[in-house]
Amino acid sequence: MKKFFATALLVFLFVVGGGFAYLSLRKPNAAPPSSIVIERTPERLARGKYLFEVVNDCDGCHSERDFTRFGNPVVTRGKGFQFPAEMGLPGTVAAPNISSDVETGIGGYTDGEILRALREGIAKDGHAMFPLMPYPYYAKMSDEDAYSLVAFIRTIPPVKAKQPPVALKFPVNLMMTGVPKPLAAPVPQPDRSNKLKYGEYLTTVAACVECHTPEVRGQLVEEKRFGGGREFRLMGTRVLSANITSDTQTGLGKLSEDQWVEKFYQYKEYVEKGSKKVGPEGVTLMPWLAYAQMEEADLRAIYTYMRTVKPVVNSVETHPENPTKK
Ligand code: HEC
Ligand code: HEC
Repeated sequence: MKKFFATALLVFLFVVGGGFAYLSLRKPNAAPPSSIVIERTPERLARGKYLFEVVNDCDGCHSERDFTRFGNPVVTRGKGFQFPAEMGLPGTVAAPNISSDVETGIGGYTDGEILRALREGIAKDGHAMFPLMPYPYYAKMSDEDAYSLVAFIRTIPPVKAKQPPVALKFPVNLMMTGVPKPLAAPVPQPDRSNKLKYGEYLTTVAACVECHTPEVRGQLVEEKRFGGGREFRLMGTRVLSANITSDTQTGLGKLSEDQWVEKFYQYKEYVEKGSKKVGPEGVTLMPWLAYAQMEEADLRAIYTYMRTVKPVVNSVETHPENPTKK
């Protein structure tokens, strides 16, 4: 009997140990970076700036920002940002310095290496990136838009600031290896004359669904897509994302297209003149300052797409600690 248990234990250890070794030793599915040299045309630089600052809000993670002001305006672009412990991420997580500083930023990367990090989730050193960096969404970005972004990123002035490497806790660290995927085929330009399709494209690459859907252990709750209620902890308070589906009672079903545009453009003044100081009632992660600069046709396209998303019944109090906001 004793022998049986000893054998069972050995088998058990072997299987678990083997599984563990497999998970820790397996390599991410990675293709070598392309040797492309991206020409920095004025069109690409303009498009890249728009995507970086507005649609993709790369500043939202990769720049130092002033969280005491509404919409968290940028202080130093590209410097990187270490997420505070209160956000509850599974380990030490910093968005790296992506300025063109060679030593602490990505000035020493090739265009192909930046491109691969952006859409395929493989860093220059080959590690599988934590998908808080929304590369699974950026994988849907057209080649031309991705080239524009890379062209623009390279113009971010160097900032000397070392960010700590991402160090995720077990078992999340082992799970990362399975996330990156090389792109299977070139991604064509979206058809901008098709309002619905273009709206879907913008909504996807902006990763709205990521913030606007609750998650359980890193997975979005599929039946609540865009239904809001994802909780963020910052500045000593809590903010929950809003239900942006077209449910008439708990979502934005009663909002006309013009009112939708107005919702974003109400913050234009803050973009131009600087935003006001806010207390906990105004703390948010919604990129209002970025989106207030979005082209009107793009906001309208996103509205059109959002009208086709399944309505979700989910009543959300966005500032539960300060429910008097509305
Ligand atoms: C929600 C936060 C978030 C957003 C938004 C975001 N990133 Fe990141 N990014 C990260 C994190 C975190 C990492 C590090 C991931 C890792 O190494 O595990 C990263 C890594 C990178 C890297 C690799 C840097 C290096 O040192 O290897 C590049 C390049 C990059 N991001 C560019 C961008 C660009 C361009 C955008 C906008 C289109 C963007 N990121 C948007 C969080 C973000
Ligand atoms: C980084 C997280 C984040 C991203 C990305 C994000 N949102 Fe939000 N959004 C929030 C949070 C949190 C709120 C609730 C607090 C507030 O209103 O500021 C919100 C609120 C909103 C509201 C206001 C709803 C209301 O009831 O007034 C709209 C509209 C909205 N988001 C649309 C979008 C769209 C469209 C996108 C993508 C283009 C997007 N959001 C991307 C976090 C995010």
